[in-house]
Amino acid sequence: MTKTKINIEAPKGKLAILTPGMGAVATTLYAGVEAIKMGKAEPIGSYTQLGRIRLGKRSENRFKNVKDLVPLAKLDQIVFGGWDIFPENAYEAAKHAKVLEKDLLEMVKEPLSKIKPMKAVFDKNFIKRIEGTNVKTGKTKMDLAEQLRTDIKTFLKDNGCDRAVMVWCASTEVYTPPSAVHATVKSFEEGLKNNHPEISPSQIYTYAALKERVPYANGSPNVSVEMGWAQELSIEMATPISGSDFKTGQTLIKTVVAPGLRNRQLGVAGWYSTNILGNRDGEVLDDPGSFKSKEVTKSGVLSDIFSKELYPELYSNISHVVRINYYPPRGDNKEGWDNIDIFGWLGYPMQIKINFLCRDSILAAPLVLDLALFSDLAGRAKMKGIQEWLSFYYKMPITKPGLNPEHDLSVQLLKLENTLRFFTNEELINHLGLTHYGVDEGEE
Ligand SMILES: NC(=O)c1ccc[n+]([C@@H]2O[C@H](COP(=O)([O-])OP(=O)(O)OC[C@H]3O[C@@H](n4cnc5c(N)ncnc54)[C@H](O)[C@@H]3O)[C@@H](O)[C@H]2O)c1
Repeated sequence: MTKTKINIEAPKGKLAILTPGMGAVATTLYAGVEAIKMGKAEPIGSYTQLGRIRLGKRSENRFKNVKDLVPLAKLDQIVFGGWDIFPENAYEAAKHAKVLEKDLLEMVKEPLSKIKPMKAVFDKNFIKRIEGTNVKTGKTKMDLAEQLRTDIKTFLKDNGCDRAVMVWCASTEVYTPPSAVHATVKSFEEGLKNNHPEISPSQIYTYAALKERVPYANGSPNVSVEMGWAQELSIEMATPISGSDFKTGQTLIKTVVAPGLRNRQLGVAGWYSTNILGNRDGEVLDDPGSFKSKEVTKSGVLSDIFSKELYPELYSNISHVVRINYYPPRGDNKEGWDNIDIFGWLGYPMQIKINFLCRDSILAAPLVLDLALFSDLAGRAKMKGIQEWLSFYYKMPITKPGLNPEHDLSVQLLKLENTLRFFTNEELINHLGLTHYGVDEGEE
């Protein structure tokens, strides 16, 4: 079989990581990268920084660090920038978010204080619980998109950057299912010019990024990259997109446990998930419209893994309940409970309880770093459109129209690893290992 030879441009110069939203997740990322650069911390949780990948046949026993295999930008080539509705710089915003301890924050005070938010595109109709002053004005939504495009160009020039990526780290918007205005680039651009009420700020950022050939990753459940216009534009502009909604806490655990139960053909009668959290994200999600967006991404996971069409005996009647309760005393330290009612041989019932006391932004920050570095890699590899290999990072991975997403974390990792092997002209691994039949593992 002939292989396509991939040539990826080297990551020369500086890479701008631009985040709409400079709240808890974004500032925890900025602070962490600065602390790591100073040699004061380790990039725990980041696959690009700590991951190792096997290459070739098992008998070769050949492993490489992911960052040595693929040409990723180095941490000291990164420049952070962002937009927020609040005018505080990243140091002040990180203090407000109360994720990091004082000592660490003071250590990175200087670089963080220099990151000042650009004026945001904001619309009260899409985010109800917060209001800020650092907001752009414009006659039409197209004007606002143009202003964002100017921001990107100015940022690159002022900071001597070679290229940029954008990762959405701003609040969750009210759920906006795709409608006619979102169908094509043409209808969407008309909508931008006519201030169509169903075009949200996150869609305007996505549009601006793609028009500037800036790869875009959607860390929230906002509906943007899923839409027809965004997928069409990402192909037209030869720019990668991915999403949606970082898979960090409860859903990460779900996509580890649920495939395990299904793979053992164990039945599930119900899965009750509840959370308490007290950060600004929790406050925004306290609004039913924004919660609806989260509910959609959080709930989709189980219905795909426990397919009632494929396994009617096991999963035809699951009661799946998801709750998020805003509870200020907990701040960013979210607590999630899962009660899973399962049944085994002859229908005998059992229960599983999971209590995850996690830290939301500590789990999310390394994902933003990985998505930024991989999106940049994808751009240099001349990838365009939906990047399914990045499903590993998302609660609701986007796929080509008509296909079901893959939610199983370990299958997502296999896909990611094989994509990295493909990028570096290494053999793809199928884990077959049937040497007695003359079929070596590692062969296609
Ligand atoms: N932390 C996690 O584990 C996790 C997991 C999955 C998804 N997410 C998503 O990541 C996003 C960020 O989470 P967070 O905890 O940092 O929230 P946060 O509330 O601390 O920060 C979000 C920031 O976005 C700003 N913002 C709101 N609308 C904006 C706009 N239109 N333009 C620019 N800035 C805007 C807000 O002012 C705020 O500072 C949320 O959408 C959240 O749902 C987080």
